[in-house]
Amino acid sequence: MCQHVICSVLFTTFTEGEMKMRNNDLIKPRHTDGNVGLAALAPCHSRLFFGWLNNPRIFRGMGDFDAYPFGIKDAEKYVLAHLKDTWLIVLKNKRVWTPVGYTGLFVRQRHRIGILRYAIGDSTCENKGIATKAVNLMIQWAFDDLDLISIHASVISSNLGSIRVLEKSGFSQVGRYQKARFESGQHYDEILFELLREGMII
Ligand SMILES: CC(C)(COP(=O)(O)OP(=O)(O)OC[C@H]1O[C@@H](n2cnc3c(N)ncnc32)[C@H](O)[C@@H]1OP(=O)(O)O)[C@@H](O)C(=O)NCCC(=O)NCCS
Repeated sequence: MCQHVICSVLFTTFTEGEMKMRNNDLIKPRHTDGNVGLAALAPCHSRLFFGWLNNPRIFRGMGDFDAYPFGIKDAEKYVLAHLKDTWLIVLKNKRVWTPVGYTGLFVRQRHRIGILRYAIGDSTCENKGIATKAVNLMIQWAFDDLDLISIHASVISSNLGSIRVLEKSGFSQVGRYQKARFESGQHYDEILFELLREGMII
């Protein structure tokens, strides 16, 4: 079990609603692959996002925010704005599901494409295959339930772990924007990936 999840449950102050969500019997993932699942997001998860969005390790991976820290109100707004397109990544330990990260698919309805993002909330949970399983569940959701034709993702070139997740999940590298991401005083390329639904490849 990832250490931080246990620590954050023990030492963070939660509202009554959040405590209910942390009574993890209540977390029933909608999609699962073994011990990894996707569970519906709810407004009571704002404090989790407050922690995740303010985590420099996660912020580094995000291309769509200019600056942090985020306030609790920003986290609340983020969660409310993404209730329909973002899931909690949950991990099962002894029949209990605990949130360990999030993944979202921002859908462009007119074009039927989705833009993918994902993050694992604590470094002790990394390199256990959790993000790859979550991304594969997102792929099934995107193509089977949302009927999308393509998923896009972009990654800062220094994020080798994330590039590997996309490669393992079948994404193809289709290009790169040069020097498009500024991180820790340096400009990095942004690498562009896509996954086309089977049958769409001409
Ligand atoms: C990127 C991230 C989602 C990966 O999650 P994860 O659960 O550790 O991913 P997985 O365990 O499924 O796969 C990671 C793979 O990357 C590899 N990897 C990790 N760090 C690496 C590095 N520095 N160099 C090369 N490979 C690396 C792992 O070995 C593993 O590959 P393998 O299964 O072939 O051994 C996680 O590190 C994270 O949340 N980072 C911060 C947020 C972020 O960057 N999100 C993505 C934005 S595009």
